[in-house]
Amino acid sequence: MSTPVTGFSKLSKQEKVDWLVATYFKGNISSGLVLEQYWSKYEQLQDLHDGFSENTVSNYFVPFGIAPNFLINGRLYAVPMAVEESSVVAAASKAAKFWLDRGGFKATVLGTLKNGQVHITYAGASTDMVGFFAFAKAELLQSIATINASMQKRGGGIQSLELVDKTDALEGYYQLHATFETLNAMGANFINTTLEQLATTFRELAAAYDGFASQQPEVVMSILSNYVPGCTVHVQVSCAVKDIGTVNGVNGETFARKFVQAVDIATVEPHRAVTHNKGIMNGIDAVVLATGNDFRAVEAGVHAYAASDGQYRSLTQARVENDQFIFEATFPLALGTVGGMTSLHPLSKIAMELLGDPTAADLMKITAVAGLAQNFAAIHSLVTTGIQAGHMKMHINNMLEQIGVNPTEKEALKKEYATKTPSFASLKESIAQLRAK
Ligand code: MEV
Repeated sequence: MSTPVTGFSKLSKQEKVDWLVATYFKGNISSGLVLEQYWSKYEQLQDLHDGFSENTVSNYFVPFGIAPNFLINGRLYAVPMAVEESSVVAAASKAAKFWLDRGGFKATVLGTLKNGQVHITYAGASTDMVGFFAFAKAELLQSIATINASMQKRGGGIQSLELVDKTDALEGYYQLHATFETLNAMGANFINTTLEQLATTFRELAAAYDGFASQQPEVVMSILSNYVPGCTVHVQVSCAVKDIGTVNGVNGETFARKFVQAVDIATVEPHRAVTHNKGIMNGIDAVVLATGNDFRAVEAGVHAYAASDGQYRSLTQARVENDQFIFEATFPLALGTVGGMTSLHPLSKIAMELLGDPTAADLMKITAVAGLAQNFAAIHSLVTTGIQAGHMKMHINNMLEQIGVNPTEKEALKKEYATKTPSFASLKESIAQLRAK
């Protein structure tokens, strides 16, 4: 049984590792060495990483791969993807290549507005709050003028501020609902700072206001929302059904029909929709992470959007119309290309350079394309060969690593399984046979 530790954050990194070894790894220093082997020999880089978070004892590597040949609005991109799941980058590359020969991806940003709320309770009549907001609105906005000045100068900043009566949903509950244009920044700090100032001004003005019949309203909290239905991007691919060609032995017409059915199933069936959208997020998260954006925020926002009519549904749609196969989606994506991790992590900076230093709107398009491409690749396999053939072929390295083979055995086994699907049992049998020889 370990005992609680005090002052852990004050220990040096080595001391933290030593404490872990003594307390949790039964004194086994090789466990500590696993943590240490990921320390960077580049001191500056290590310091940078240690500065990102707290109580760091190691670095957690995620593969950083490239999916080339993405033609987006007529421009070719090599898309950086940070993801640990085998076959995601391969699948994206395959989908990119397929659409490269069929006109590429079309992407359009539909909106870039983000939002946040000051959450308030008030026990009295709604008319009191309405009256107070009419009295206070100009001063509330005035109080954030300095915070907004720089964004406003560049065409952004707060766009609207409204009082929302939510008392039907929760007794006494109101919001100050604000919308923001944060230009190339994801804008979380800007939005939260603005909202907290609005809350402070709200409290001050409310205290001096004599129109509240009962007690004062109370600010519960102020925070941005990661639900961003006003910050969306539309992506589409299309081609004549006859130009689909034969896909994994399936003719284009059958492929298109089954593809549309697969997407329709994910539209009406939540069990399938979750997995379908998970596949989309394989692509979106990988680009979001590679570019130093907040994948938790994007995940939360995307899934809320997928359930915006009350049922969780597919984020993509597919149809055949006038002999054209059309596959499209709209994704809510609050992304930034300046500030935060995007400007700090050396690999995020490289990712941005690779993408031609995109604006936030450009990055929304590229990321959305990665999501659509990933979904295309998944359904492409699901309605033809099934997913396991490709998956397991990519997964064989991980399986062999887990079983434990030497390099010669690895080569022999990869050759043996080049055209068949491996399982742990079949691999173990093959290894036994190999070793018996
Ligand atoms: C696996 O990471 C993603 C898939 O399950 C997505 C899908 O089923 O559409 C293959």
